[in-house]
Amino acid sequence: MKRTHVSFLLLSILLLTACGRAASTPAPSPASPTQPAPASPAAAPVQSVDERVAALLTQMTLAEKIGQMTQAEKGSIAPRDVTRYFIGSVLSGGGGSPPSNTPEDWLAMVNGYQEAALATRLGIPLLYGVDAVHGHAAVVGATVFPHNVGLGAADDPQLMRRIGQATAAEMAATGIRWNFAPVVAVPQDIRWGRTYEAFGEDPALVSRLAAPYIEGLQNGAADQPFADPATVAASAKHFVADGGTAFGSANTANMGVQYLLDQGDAPIDEATLRALHLPPYQAAVDAGAATVMASFSSVNGVKMHANRDLLTGVLRDELGFSGFVVSDWQGIDQIPGDYYSDVVTAINAGIDMVMTPYDYKRFIDTLIQAVERGDVTQERIDEAVGRVLRVKFALGLFDGDPMQPGAPLEVVGSSEHRDLAREAVRQSLVLLKNEGNTLPLIEDTPLIYVGGEAADDIGIQIGGWSTQWQGEAGDITEGTTILDGIRQVSKPGSNVVHDAAGRFDGFTDAQGRQLLADVGVAVAAERPYAEGVGDSADLALPPADLAMVQRMRDSSRRLVVVVLAGRPVDITDLLPLADAVVVAWLPGSEGAGVADGLFGHSPFTGTLPYTWPRSADQLPFNFANLPAEGSAAPLFPAGFGLTSEP
Ligand code: GLC
Repeated sequence: MKRTHVSFLLLSILLLTACGRAASTPAPSPASPTQPAPASPAAAPVQSVDERVAALLTQMTLAEKIGQMTQAEKGSIAPRDVTRYFIGSVLSGGGGSPPSNTPEDWLAMVNGYQEAALATRLGIPLLYGVDAVHGHAAVVGATVFPHNVGLGAADDPQLMRRIGQATAAEMAATGIRWNFAPVVAVPQDIRWGRTYEAFGEDPALVSRLAAPYIEGLQNGAADQPFADPATVAASAKHFVADGGTAFGSANTANMGVQYLLDQGDAPIDEATLRALHLPPYQAAVDAGAATVMASFSSVNGVKMHANRDLLTGVLRDELGFSGFVVSDWQGIDQIPGDYYSDVVTAINAGIDMVMTPYDYKRFIDTLIQAVERGDVTQERIDEAVGRVLRVKFALGLFDGDPMQPGAPLEVVGSSEHRDLAREAVRQSLVLLKNEGNTLPLIEDTPLIYVGGEAADDIGIQIGGWSTQWQGEAGDITEGTTILDGIRQVSKPGSNVVHDAAGRFDGFTDAQGRQLLADVGVAVAAERPYAEGVGDSADLALPPADLAMVQRMRDSSRRLVVVVLAGRPVDITDLLPLADAVVVAWLPGSEGAGVADGLFGHSPFTGTLPYTWPRSADQLPFNFANLPAEGSAAPLFPAGFGLTSEP
């Protein structure tokens, strides 16, 4: 039996079961168009999800249907407009938090929109979405896991499932049931600013980590999607080949930065598409991903938001995807042509819900016009709305009170989740160099110099997609920094001193000479960025950090360099200065996990998820013909990582 039938059948059975069970649950309110009649011995047989969807569709006006295809950004829509325009979804864009960023206020904000949706004629519940791409990081106090680049280094599918489950619980506690994650891109050029959002350059690695993460998000502690209320719909993104764009092909600019690769064009043949970029989507579909997000980028010059061959022909008819496709942020506006043709092209290509953060009224009016003109058929509208409703039924939003959070607020930032995040940090560490057994460090080392702003900055170690879209340095949320961890682990007899610039002039001997530290730990870091703002031509670390490393070299008997980055960066000049080099990627809120590795409380087991270049001049790599030695060879191959026993 073709995979398509299997996955459709599987999803249908799961949906039937989920909703069948739900349908047999007595509705809290008297029978209404969207609530099943209260179960009673003589009650009608349990309706299937398809029957409930079909029944609801027959009662919906065109405006109500198109409202379900519309997603607005919370900063641009008041709850009253959710009611007025029958809006089906609201999102928080990157960092889109309520004025006071607490879990309680997130729940109140989300429920404010939910209440407005339930106040519509048919009371169709709202689906709220957010980018919880490394935990529910937009919420102050939430657990922030390592970004996917670090999880790719850890390469532990079971860990991924647990992280998905914990992330879903923290989201559901704030009333949010849709995660725009995971990124299942397969980046081929690490100069891309979204490299850290992906698991690695190998499609097999991406597939084996994305699938359990999706199951963790959607199944929670249960073995079926959404049977556990502390679950969310996943969104495999961005379909397709967002990680295959060519350097210099981007024409988007944001925050004064001209993008170089992000949202650009992937000039790839079908064999490359099928070998590299599609397999993770098959894995995501097989894992039951409820939604897919279309990519801003193009394949061979065709914008993915307009690409019916791939969005419908391949994703649905070949891979068997049966959930709904959401556009990216104003993604349809990038389709060549005027807005009317953008809307018609995108919907007919296979976009079922449009993320139109600001222009929801314009979108609704335009699509109504397109249906009235026959440029978009009623059948296509019903198909799209049916897909959206099917996910909402599967989530159980129609059965029970959607304003009741799926988990208690206490789970947000719980010690159990933080322990899981710290375990993930330990597993993500990659040991690139360790001469003279510099590592593991000894807890009672007499004098340890710790250098670098990033050694004691939770915002830098978290990176992008945190309390701000682009991330931000500073004490932005709860957690531990690398310095906190070193202080926690080192013994009272050990003197741990930190300086952001690596200057320890005050430490001199009786003759006024600089005191040498027994060990220096220098933390060199990329500063936070997101999306194309992080596209980089040179992969350079900040010069101030490189100068700090040099100072630390001069003032330490042994020097350990810790690199915090969302991708391989240029360390060719730094490498010879260090006795040991550890890559900690973007570890999230539990930076103390880095110290666990430095002091041998956990073994180094991480391996590189991306090939590490000597310099950006080597990019893009020709992976089919990558020299193993000599100056044309990479600095380190993917899969490299020294091990060490604790
Ligand atoms: C962004 C990203 C996408 C994200 C969406 C909502 O532009 O491309 O990954 O899910 O907008 O924040």
